[in-house]
Amino acid sequence: MPSHVTFVRLLKYVPEQGKTKSNMFMFLNISVKRWSLIFLILLACSTFSIAQDAPAVKLPAGLENAKSDLGEQLFKENCTQCHSVSEVVVGPALGGITKERSVPWLIKWVHNSQKLIQSGDKDAKAVYEKFDHTDMPAFPQFTPDDIKNILAYVETTHATLANAPKVATNSSGDENGATATSKGNSNSTLILTLIIIVLVLVLLMLVIFLSVIKKYLADKESKLNEAEKDLLHQKFEISKVLKSKGFITIVILIFVCIGVRSCWVGLLSIGVEQNYAPKQPIPFSHKQHVGQYKIECVYCHTGAKRGKQANIPSVNICMNCHSSIKSGSRFGTAAIALVRTAWEKKEPIKWVRVHNLPDLAYFNHSQHTVVGGIECERCHGPIGTMEVIKQYSPLTMGWCINCHRETLVNGKGNAYYDKLYALHNGETLTVQEMGGLECSKCHY
Ligand code: HEC
Ligand code: HEC
Ligand code: HEC
Ligand code: HEC
Ligand code: HEC
Ligand code: HEC
Repeated sequence: MPSHVTFVRLLKYVPEQGKTKSNMFMFLNISVKRWSLIFLILLACSTFSIAQDAPAVKLPAGLENAKSDLGEQLFKENCTQCHSVSEVVVGPALGGITKERSVPWLIKWVHNSQKLIQSGDKDAKAVYEKFDHTDMPAFPQFTPDDIKNILAYVETTHATLANAPKVATNSSGDENGATATSKGNSNSTLILTLIIIVLVLVLLMLVIFLSVIKKYLADKESKLNEAEKDLLHQKFEISKVLKSKGFITIVILIFVCIGVRSCWVGLLSIGVEQNYAPKQPIPFSHKQHVGQYKIECVYCHTGAKRGKQANIPSVNICMNCHSSIKSGSRFGTAAIALVRTAWEKKEPIKWVRVHNLPDLAYFNHSQHTVVGGIECERCHGPIGTMEVIKQYSPLTMGWCINCHRETLVNGKGNAYYDKLYALHNGETLTVQEMGGLECSKCHY
């Protein structure tokens, strides 16, 4: 078949002479190929952009293979009571720590900081001095890889915080929430931009390709028949394009994609309240009361170590102090006046509830804080840095169960556990082994 005939076919789906197969078949046949090409390009470019995204944060030597997503969980469960990436909490801010210390040093430190200090290590002694001889707990259960994963998480977060626009780290200092969302957003915008660029390039190439073919055919015009000449001199008409099958298919496809995406996003966020931080009627700040004035949690949340509910304090408890403290450094007398008015009118303050498990689940505070010996911060995050309280943990069933799988029962000096331990040849038990994954323990 002469080449110019093939080119004419490419311009429009002209069936070969004598063949009675319909245009529709050709259309489908060709368009399937084209569609698969477009999808291949899209796929390639999205994987390309993901692959590009990963090394955006360069991890220091020794951490190249560490997994920051695994580290994130370990860090949140074990370190956030005392450390944040960017702020001094009880211990130092850990962002950038691998620039100051070697990875082997850090592994030794986290395994047992006291041992390192007593071995006479200069750096170890210096930090210990600087933090008033506060003992950091030892974590002998962590493998070197666990610790590398934590360090990878810390350094990735540190790098994203440094690159993120300043708005991301707002007054509440909640780097975890802020970067998690902004990172997700920038990821998808990146992919979207790349896809658009690639599509524009493809379009450009098609236009160039088409004009080359037209030029080639114009040179061979004498060999063409009438219908083919018509086709060659055809003017570009926008209304025809708008009515064409191809165009309509693309439009429908775009709408379907948008629809599917919004359904998916909606599905994922059902019941997910993490980072929920409603505005409260009085600008009460945990950062001020807990972080700055070091008031104990149970001074206000009287039930947290006694019963099921932690309790939100009544106005009476506030008035223990605010009958004499009448103005504050942030709002003068204005904010505390709201507390006093509530007290004088004997009206409870209408705090907006942040945490709320569904009724079907049973959760008991004292079982965790007293019997389990778990710090409030492990579940509620660095409360002492929060201006406004937010839900720090997901509070999903998976979250409860993960912790029950990993956490050892704190049974020292408890006769009940001594018996259990004896049954298990003196070995320690996880909550799971004690029955903490049984449905009826958490569901009525
Ligand atoms: C109960 C509080 C507490 C917890 C929990 C804690 N740390 Fe620390 N950490 C400290 C304190 C306090 C220091 C300062 C040194 C000192 O006083 O011992 C410190 C120091 C450090 C240092 C040394 C920093 C430097 O400048 O050399 C590293 C690294 C570190 N912690 C990592 C971790 C990791 C990783 C975890 C979680 C697995 C963790 N810490 C959990 C309190 C804590
Ligand atoms: C001076 C009193 C006071 C102290 C001390 C205090 N809190 Fe609170 N807390 C409140 C008040 C008032 C609220 C309700 C208003 C709000 O959500 O900010 C609250 C709310 C909370 C909530 C959210 C409750 C909900 O609605 O789900 C949590 C979690 C919490 N506090 C944890 C802590 C922890 C952990 C500590 C100790 C580190 C602590 N609080 C110390 C007064 C206090
Ligand atoms: C143990 C003492 C104590 C208790 C209990 C207490 N506060 Fe405070 N509160 C303080 C101190 C100290 C300040 C800081 C005053 C300053 O900034 O000089 C303060 C400041 C404030 C401020 C003003 C913020 C500002 O800077 O203008 C508000 C609002 C406030 N508290 C609300 C409450 C509420 C509501 C409760 C009860 C849930 C409560 N406080 C319980 C000690 C307490
Ligand atoms: C093992 C995880 C865990 C620990 C540890 C923990 N909490 Fe909670 N906290 C929760 C969960 C889950 C809820 C939601 C409970 C609900 O909705 O019934 C909650 C709810 C709360 C509330 C809201 C009011 C209420 O009673 O439901 C406050 C206040 C609170 N916690 C304070 C504290 C304080 C203070 C500590 C430390 C003494 C603490 N929590 C330790 C998991 C924990
Ligand atoms: C940070 C870790 C952690 C998280 C998160 C956690 N738990 Fe626990 N839980 C424990 C520990 C530790 C114990 C063991 C306490 C003990 O020694 O009895 C425990 C015990 C329990 C028990 C008693 C189990 C038994 O065999 O007697 C129940 C019920 C329970 N948890 C429910 C929950 C629910 C519901 C959630 C989620 C809303 C939750 N826990 C989240 C650590 C956790
Ligand atoms: C450690 C505590 C714990 C254990 C053990 C546990 N659950 Fe749950 N479960 C929860 C919590 C908390 C929720 C509420 C989570 C939420 O709202 O996302 C829940 C929710 C559910 C739901 C409702 C899901 C929904 O979307 O509303 C079902 C069904 C369920 N659990 C079944 C089970 C079964 C079956 C088992 C035993 C194999 C079990 N659970 C064991 C804590 C537990």
